[in-house]
Amino acid sequence: MTSVPHHLAIVMDGNGRWATRRFLPRVAGHRQGLEALRRCARDCAERGVRVLTVFAFSSENWARPADEVSGLMDLLASALSREVPELSRQGVQLHFVGDTAGLTERVADGLRRAEQATAHNQRLVLNVCFNYGGRWDIAQAAAKLVAQGREITPDNLDGAMALAHVPHPDMLIRTGGELRLSNFLLWQCAYSELVFTDCLWPDFDGARLDDALAQYAQRQRRFGLAPEQAQTLAKHTLAQAAPSVAANPAVTPLVAAPRAVA
Ligand code: FPP
Repeated sequence: MTSVPHHLAIVMDGNGRWATRRFLPRVAGHRQGLEALRRCARDCAERGVRVLTVFAFSSENWARPADEVSGLMDLLASALSREVPELSRQGVQLHFVGDTAGLTERVADGLRRAEQATAHNQRLVLNVCFNYGGRWDIAQAAAKLVAQGREITPDNLDGAMALAHVPHPDMLIRTGGELRLSNFLLWQCAYSELVFTDCLWPDFDGARLDDALAQYAQRQRRFGLAPEQAQTLAKHTLAQAAPSVAANPAVTPLVAAPRAVA
């Protein structure tokens, strides 16, 4: 059994402060943040993480100064043209998660093309949440079910959420020292292990990732069960020990690698 999280989610916070401390414009921090993301995707794949989901632009970020918003849009557009071939070479399958209605046709088209170009890759699923909010996700899933005339149940909602193609995150890391979720993956992080670090995102490196993975390895995951039941779960497969938990897509692997219960 491995104690490496199958799915890691990250709130990449601290780009602005990283830049301000160096008397640079905030967008320089986001540029450096993109470097950190590239490094983190590589480090995650090397350590056996199979799904990485990052918060790149929230539904609320539109209210930031116009030059910062346009800087982030430009960064996304240039990342789409520059990064995709190398990510694909590394076996990364890209997904953009969020409300594309708010994006320009050029950017939305670039996102779709990047997804198509990397759809066959199997080493790491990288979900980039852009124009995303947890409340938006729950609302759009409910609206989808209503439009289909289906009942609103946890399982049906789960299948209609924007991250339905992967199991729920096992661990969520937030850099930058703030202790909140900021409307990220509100539904999906119900049982995720949370790790907070003061490290600013552009400084997040393999050693910081290893620190977080070491914390994860120490945690006992219980999914609402009693500690002694959870211990049993660690010894058996989820399907044998707790069918009701195993039936939840949150703990069922949807990409190739077998998922450990830790
Ligand atoms: C939060 O830091 C970070 C963001 C709002 C943007 C995150 C974007 C990247 C890491 C770059 C990746 C980009 C793409 C296009 C994939 P903050 O600005 O709130 O930092 P602060 O709390 O120090 O002000």
